[in-house]
Amino acid sequence: MEIRFEQTKNPKAKPTDESKLGFGHIFTDHMFAMNYDAGQGWHDARIVPYGEISLSPASMCLHYGQEIFEGLKAYRTADGTVQLFRPDENYKRMNVSAARMVIPAIDEEFMVEATKKLIEIEKDWVPHTDGASLYIRPFIFATDPYVGVKPADHYLFLIILSPSGPYYSTGLDPVKIYVEQKYVRAVRGGTGFAKTAANYAISLKGQDEAHEQDYEQVLWLDGVEQKYIEEVGSMNIFFVIDGEVITPELTGSVLPGITRKSALEVCKSKGIKATERRITIQEVADAYDAGKLDEVFGTGTAAVISPVGHLKWGDKVMTINDNKIGPISQMLYDTMTGIQWGKIEDTFGWTVKI
Ligand code: COI
Repeated sequence: MEIRFEQTKNPKAKPTDESKLGFGHIFTDHMFAMNYDAGQGWHDARIVPYGEISLSPASMCLHYGQEIFEGLKAYRTADGTVQLFRPDENYKRMNVSAARMVIPAIDEEFMVEATKKLIEIEKDWVPHTDGASLYIRPFIFATDPYVGVKPADHYLFLIILSPSGPYYSTGLDPVKIYVEQKYVRAVRGGTGFAKTAANYAISLKGQDEAHEQDYEQVLWLDGVEQKYIEEVGSMNIFFVIDGEVITPELTGSVLPGITRKSALEVCKSKGIKATERRITIQEVADAYDAGKLDEVFGTGTAAVISPVGHLKWGDKVMTINDNKIGPISQMLYDTMTGIQWGKIEDTFGWTVKI
């Protein structure tokens, strides 16, 4: 499919102070768009000026939430070139989310090429500062004007770009996480593994109550017994217990994170024992009491590698590694960001040059 290009007549001023980008507030000059109509498939791929879109108030996405999205980044390397990190994995996962939400599949290879073309056009928006990058948000939503519950016949696929700094304002300083015991994020047979808006909307109440207690994020337990650890919502979670790296296995209610998968591969390449298995919050608390909970960290595209300094479960507050980043979290942060920003050799073949 050809990609039509319409250049903006009103280019915006780029941010001058990259230390103040924040996350997800600023958007570039252009966006990618493509339509789906039943009987015609995906068509009319285009890169057009970033701007408001017009939607019927009856659009199905607004009523029943038929929507999916992805998140990836473009990084500027020291020699000024721009690269992506495993974009094929994002579009592969997008098709898994699409299947669950009865959204038509996309051509993964075409979408990697379309993303490269958009970034090529917007490459001057990729930040130059260490730790900052161009966050890429592809998303698809149902547009049929119909207030009935059924899979839609019409969809819009957009990619918008946002020059961004760290997701957490604390940067690499450890975050405080609250173990949620009242609400649940996902249940067996639900949508936990899909990147769909509902999974994030459902997390807001718990997050709000965690904020009231001065905790930044919520750690979700399984939706049946509230016993097994799942994920944080904005990131997957890892524990280092007695030298072994453990992350909850993908049972269907956990997002299959690309940073999660990459962190496991990095650990294995360095000879560190890394295991995916079910793990209870009780096991974590017991390891803490026995002095064997060495580190806790989260992984995510936005969050990168994010050390956890405090974990609160009921009345029990666990302070991890003296509220400092631990050696495995630091190694993973250095390796992942080193590959992403082109500071170390990418022996895994994960980066894609623009
Ligand atoms: C990402 O890490 O890209 C996400 O989509 C998570 C979101 C909370 C920013």
